[in-house]
Amino acid sequence: MIVARTRAELETALARLPRPLGAVPTMGALHAGHLSLARCARAENASVALTIFVNPTQFLPHEDFERYPRPLAQDLALAEEVGVDLVFAPPVEEVYPPGFATTVSVAGPSQRWEGVCRPGHFTGVATVVTRLLNLLRPERAYFGEKDYQQLQVVRRLVSDLALPVEIVGCPTVRDPDGLALSSRNVYLSPEERQQALALSRALFTAAERVAVGERDARALEALMHQHVTAAGLEVDYLAVVDPVSLEPVSEIRHPARALGAVRVGTVRLIDNVALVPPPP
Ligand code: PAJ
Repeated sequence: MIVARTRAELETALARLPRPLGAVPTMGALHAGHLSLARCARAENASVALTIFVNPTQFLPHEDFERYPRPLAQDLALAEEVGVDLVFAPPVEEVYPPGFATTVSVAGPSQRWEGVCRPGHFTGVATVVTRLLNLLRPERAYFGEKDYQQLQVVRRLVSDLALPVEIVGCPTVRDPDGLALSSRNVYLSPEERQQALALSRALFTAAERVAVGERDARALEALMHQHVTAAGLEVDYLAVVDPVSLEPVSEIRHPARALGAVRVGTVRLIDNVALVPPPP
């Protein structure tokens, strides 16, 4: 496995990698969710490149950029274990050289939910993803459904700018009790972790209700709200939305998505599930 720190090292490494290339952008602190993306990329491409970059522009001023975990040695060992060929782990100035003045801003699917709670976040994501895709020039890039709105924003971005890459979405990896894996789960105390389970349980309850014929999106939102507030979680949003536009739906006649963001103490968690109505 090659580790590139600079754009020059990256270019040299890329020239040697057989194509097609699958790229897995991450902020590191790798867990089984990230590794599932790398495995998926491994199965579908001749080479796999994983990027590790804690992108400052997608964090708001009060957020956890400084304390975000950065266990690089452990990440490199995990990447090697799952068969990654190249890790690009640049310092900030390689991604944002002096004078960097461009942002990529996606409207549409960015506008609600995380876009409201974390203003500017998706512009930071879209800008860094565009830059990383242009530096790596992969045939495919892999993103998790865990960050469902991000996945739809990236799909919109790639389509709108005609970037020559196929975006592949991969299912959310969960702990056996249902909690979606996240690099931020390390911030949870054992009690908070227990409380946090109410989010995935609320989402799965909504999915079960839809599977047996519930179509009323507002009723489902109320049900999810009850679940998570009963567990003592603060709700940022719980919403039933169109799976592509991310706009709210009122009646579930086609597959939809339930999205949720809650706060447990100082930790903010997001999760989502597919809502699939029964055949008519
Ligand atoms: P990060 O949070 O490190 O996540 C990297 C990728 O792993 C994302 O595509 C995310 O959706 C996916 N992922 C995280 N947890 C997952 C889980 N439990 N199951 C499946 N996939 C999971 O998302 C980012 O970084 C950044 O915004 C990035 C796209 C790298 C741009 O900076």
